[in-house]
Amino acid sequence: MKSITAIHRQYGIPSEVLNAEEVEVGKPKEGQVMIKLLRACVNPSDMGMIGGSYGRLRELPAIAGREGIGEIVEIGLGVENVKLGDVVRIPEEPGVWAQYTVCDAENLMVLPKGLDLDMLSMSFINPPTALLILEEFYALNEGDWVIQNGAGSALGYFLIQICRSRGIRTINVLRSAAKKEAALKEIGADIVIDEESFDAQALNDLTGGALPKLGLNQIGGNSVANMIKAMGQGGTIATVGAMSSEPVRFPTRFLIFNDLRLRGFWWDKWQRTHSKEQKDKIFTKIFKMIEEGVLRAPVDKVYPLSQIKEAMKRAAQGGRSGKVLLSF
Ligand SMILES: NC(=O)c1ccc[n+]([C@@H]2O[C@H](COP(=O)([O-])OP(=O)(O)OC[C@H]3O[C@@H](n4cnc5c(N)ncnc54)[C@H](OP(=O)(O)O)[C@@H]3O)[C@@H](O)[C@H]2O)c1
Repeated sequence: MKSITAIHRQYGIPSEVLNAEEVEVGKPKEGQVMIKLLRACVNPSDMGMIGGSYGRLRELPAIAGREGIGEIVEIGLGVENVKLGDVVRIPEEPGVWAQYTVCDAENLMVLPKGLDLDMLSMSFINPPTALLILEEFYALNEGDWVIQNGAGSALGYFLIQICRSRGIRTINVLRSAAKKEAALKEIGADIVIDEESFDAQALNDLTGGALPKLGLNQIGGNSVANMIKAMGQGGTIATVGAMSSEPVRFPTRFLIFNDLRLRGFWWDKWQRTHSKEQKDKIFTKIFKMIEEGVLRAPVDKVYPLSQIKEAMKRAAQGGRSGKVLLSF
């Protein structure tokens, strides 16, 4: 059977090196299944993996994509853990952006029924990252403050939404606050400010003197220097991304006199170094939050796999209204 698949034979600019190719896919063998793509999500890490700058690269030629869901459409002999029609997470390796994937059935994650497919397709990278940052980097209590830059990203949305559901308050910094302030306030952001006009003292007045205990850095550069000035004693800043491609800058005195901690987090590694039970525990919480309407992020546009170049161009643009998704 032919399967439209997004493949790159060299590392480079995704819209240039990635092509939708027709690939022959065989029938599932014993213990295997065939999954038909329903939805996949385009993330900054995909751009890094295709571009050759990510912390882990695939051998070339490579199928692109890390996050998506599909329906079981064929089952090989001896498969008992999934059935026809089940919706599952498409295994991250060898790559998700394919119309059909034939893979081992063992360890497939069957997804709860009745949940929004767009949301499910973006639930395997950003939601667990937001959850683990909030639960493992600082023991936060109701009423505590968290600060993040890049707050208009999907990760930013999920962080705000989880905080709101737990009574934790958020300061949200972004480069285009005017455009996104209303949307972020609508999902529960307490304070939304523009990076350009960042003023730690003015922020302190807005929070009534409460200082953030946890910071999430998605951007790098001077944005982190700003964030550091607003943090409370002994607070932690977790860096997960570098959207500005600028090195993290920090004023040394805050590290010394305020005992600030700068740490990094990589979900990709967390997934590979934790047990199935630990991962299941995280995803049980995430699916519950999706079901309860806590987690939801906007979609900019859904592209068919055949328009992979247009999808990559759009994903690389600033000012999107949400995630770029792929479908068939
Ligand atoms: N380490 C990990 O395990 C991990 C896990 C998940 C995510 N992440 C990282 O978290 C970040 C967000 O991911 P996502 O999937 O949520 O992103 P996304 O939804 O695709 O959104 C990207 C955001 O970055 C903003 N942005 C882009 N370039 C910028 C710049 N130069 N200065 C300021 N803002 C900029 C965009 O703002 P505009 O709206 O203004 O264009 C947009 O809001 C990425 O860096 C990603 O790699 C890391």
